[in-house]
Amino acid sequence: MDQVSSHGERCHQLEEQLRRSEDLTSGLQAKISSYEVEIEKLKEHLMQEIHQLEAQKEEAIKEASECSEQHMDTLRDQLIGVQSRLVSLQPVLKNMKTNYNSLRSQVRNFSQFYEASIQEARRQICNAVTNVSEANKDLLQKYQREVQLRKRYHNQLVELKGNIRVLCRVRPHKDLTDQKSSQLSAIITDVNDDTRTSITYKGKEKSFELDKVFLPEATQEEVFMEIEPVVTSCINGYNVCIFAYGQTGSGKTYTMEGTADNPGMNLQSLRALYQEMEARKGLWSYAVTLSMVEIYNEVIRDLLSRDPQDKLDIKLNPDGSGQLHVPGLTSMEVKSFRHIKKLLALGRRNRATFCTNMNEHSSRSHALLTITITGREFSSGAITTGKLNLVDLAGSERVCKSGAEGERLKEAQNINKSLLALGEVIQALRAKQSHIPFRNSKLTYLLQDSLGKGNKTVMMVQVSPLEENIGETVCSLNFAQRVCKVELGPASRKIDTATAKAEI
Ligand SMILES: Nc1ncnc2c1ncn2[C@@H]1O[C@H](COP(=O)(O)OP(=O)(O)O)[C@@H](O)[C@H]1O
Ligand SMILES: [Mg+2]
Repeated sequence: MDQVSSHGERCHQLEEQLRRSEDLTSGLQAKISSYEVEIEKLKEHLMQEIHQLEAQKEEAIKEASECSEQHMDTLRDQLIGVQSRLVSLQPVLKNMKTNYNSLRSQVRNFSQFYEASIQEARRQICNAVTNVSEANKDLLQKYQREVQLRKRYHNQLVELKGNIRVLCRVRPHKDLTDQKSSQLSAIITDVNDDTRTSITYKGKEKSFELDKVFLPEATQEEVFMEIEPVVTSCINGYNVCIFAYGQTGSGKTYTMEGTADNPGMNLQSLRALYQEMEARKGLWSYAVTLSMVEIYNEVIRDLLSRDPQDKLDIKLNPDGSGQLHVPGLTSMEVKSFRHIKKLLALGRRNRATFCTNMNEHSSRSHALLTITITGREFSSGAITTGKLNLVDLAGSERVCKSGAEGERLKEAQNINKSLLALGEVIQALRAKQSHIPFRNSKLTYLLQDSLGKGNKTVMMVQVSPLEENIGETVCSLNFAQRVCKVELGPASRKIDTATAKAEI
């Protein structure tokens, strides 16, 4: 029973517990159902909210889509605008592109064209220049031909009128090593016209026209070629005078005597004469005599004599011919050209031993070489006498310039006296005066039969190329210009046919 009672109690407890649990459960169930109601409510609310939100969303979407559509529309409009602009721009661009391309090709073409046209222009210029130079050459040839022709006519005229031929020779510069500092003067020569020379002196240009002007490069042969016909004419019985005129140091002695390698006019004349005589050997016989004198202070000295100190005088020939002669003057008969060389050397030696200072002496004295050729023609017996005088004159420099005093002044005055007399003779000949003052000096007196009318004269005027000598150069050229105008009349031959007839 106890147990049953404990079990009953226990059952009771459990029943209690169950009832409490049932209470709790019903409480909980009530709660659950209230919760469920609440949940239902909340759910309903939520649904409502969702609906609302959905509606809002719809609304928003609608709004957004509307808005975006508008935006899209404006964008589309803009796009259309841009597109249309693009379309309109495209041809412009295309145009520009073609323009650019054409410009580019033009530029390329231009450079080619430019090159080509420059070449063309150059070619044309070259053509023009060659044409002009051809024309110039042609003109120059014509001019030279004219000059030659003029010269020929001039020579013929000179021959007819018997003018004194005046040649000018300009000394080269190079040989004067002791005058390094000296300047060249402005002696202007024309390569295309060898008869003219001009010189600038004291700021003025003075022009001279002579028979020929030799440039410093001219050789002895070239100079001789110019006088050869005159020289050889003495074989035919003409009297010929060749003078070298000019200041000291201008090359007179070089031209007349020359050097061993470059023989001057003296030796070349004799060689030419001998050649000519040789060529006529079968038709003519010739006798050649030679004399050499020096005129110093108006005193004539025989350079071929044993005693060159002897003074000589000029006298009228006692044979009544009116010819002059110099008593006691050695006149050597020359056998051959070789013999002549010996005689010339003897003369030079005599001249040198006679004086102490050869250079000074020679500048103050005149040296005269005379060759007389007598020819006899076998067939007719005619006799011709020709004389060739080769004169190396004293220096033509003016006295006041050289500062001479005493004996020197006398020398200078004497030189000048004979040069002055030569000038006066030339002046008188030029004016065709009846009285020619040959007797005013020994030189002119001695040359009387060769210098006057009917004879052939060549004046070789020597000039220095140096600036410091320009005053003397102008004087010499002035003298040359005056001499140029002298007319000696047609040259006359000294031929004696009377003796020939008498002999026959
Ligand atoms: N054409 C020339 N070529 C070379 N040397 C020359 C020429 N002319 C002159 N000389 C030289 O010039 C110098 C002076 O010449 P030179 O004949 O003695 O003069 P001049 O006799 O007039 O006083 C000399 O040494 C001479 O050899
Ligand atoms: Mg001399």
